[in-house]
Amino acid sequence: GLQVSSQRMRNRRKEIACRGDIERLTHCFLSIYESLIPPDEEKEKQKQLLASLEKLVNKEWPRAQLFLYGSCANTFGVSNSDIDVCMTLDDDGTSKSDILLKLAEILESDNLQNVQALTRARVPIVKLMDPVTKISCDICINNVLALVNTKLLRDYAQIDVRLRQLAFIVKYWAKSRGVNETYHGTLSSYAYVLMCIHFLQSRRPAILPCLQGMKATYVVKIDNVDYGYFDKVEELRDFGAVNNESIGFLLWAFFDYWAYCHDYANDVISVRTAGIISKREKDWTRRIGNDRHLICIEDPFEVNHDLGRVVDKYSIKILREEFERAADVLQYDPNPSVKLFEPY
Ligand code: GTP
Ligand code: MG
Repeated sequence: GLQVSSQRMRNRRKEIACRGDIERLTHCFLSIYESLIPPDEEKEKQKQLLASLEKLVNKEWPRAQLFLYGSCANTFGVSNSDIDVCMTLDDDGTSKSDILLKLAEILESDNLQNVQALTRARVPIVKLMDPVTKISCDICINNVLALVNTKLLRDYAQIDVRLRQLAFIVKYWAKSRGVNETYHGTLSSYAYVLMCIHFLQSRRPAILPCLQGMKATYVVKIDNVDYGYFDKVEELRDFGAVNNESIGFLLWAFFDYWAYCHDYANDVISVRTAGIISKREKDWTRRIGNDRHLICIEDPFEVNHDLGRVVDKYSIKILREEFERAADVLQYDPNPSVKLFEPY
């Protein structure tokens, strides 16, 4: 069985190399990418909303600060996304729930709409909608690691533009195909971006380096643990230039990897080490509680955290079928740039 499937893999590689219109496809995908980039006015509006919210919360908590994180700050956000905000404030022993309830009260009395405190979520937040800009926003409290992983993603994006291009297309595909919904057991956008980074780290020659494996030029201490990595990315601008793989090819190779090459039974992908770690080594071989580890994506900083933990025995099947469909569409379909994103 194994031999047959590796023979099949080799045949597939030959065939894609023979797909004559891969450059035309690259062209199509690049124009989709361009059309998804948010305009500068939108970024401006987000910043203004952030500033006005900060002014408002400073009346109650003078030292509090608001930061954008997630896709509006990591450069992987498309137009008209909701924004993710983290409020940092000194720990005076007040529980997060109490802070969030107070925050909701303040926002409500300032005429922000759809204000809702979700105090029991895994990451407790207050949701709101600004009636002026129509921007929806989630605010969490002191989630400093999320700010650090946002910076890591943003820094990787500056090294080689193909990361941002690949991740935009993959996120767009995942949203179109309904496999970007953690509450239905499929993967978060954050997980997809990590999959793209890992994939580009493992090309030969590599398109992305391993920032956490280099001398740390940026270090933060959170709850007495140091987190750091090399962040002088302007020095790495040419890193991937020796590899000239096009975005059309890389997109196919990404889906081909997750459809036919990834070892779901044994492997964990790790951006932290730019490699594969065995499930055994991480003790992710058994189901513990709700964590089934059916697809394993190590968080770069919270190394005990598997971003695939949301995936269950039903959704893993859906995911893998979608990876196969995407790989096959890119390889054989006469019009892949339409078929790939067909609503499910
Ligand atoms: P959009 O789909 O465009 O909103 O992308 P996003 O990057 O904002 O996605 P997402 O909601 O998946 O993640 C928001 C941020 O939460 C990430 O960028 C991370 O900084 C942080 N985060 C940390 N751990 C997790 C996790 O386990 N799951 C998710 N979803 N986010 C995490
Ligand atoms: Mg988001």
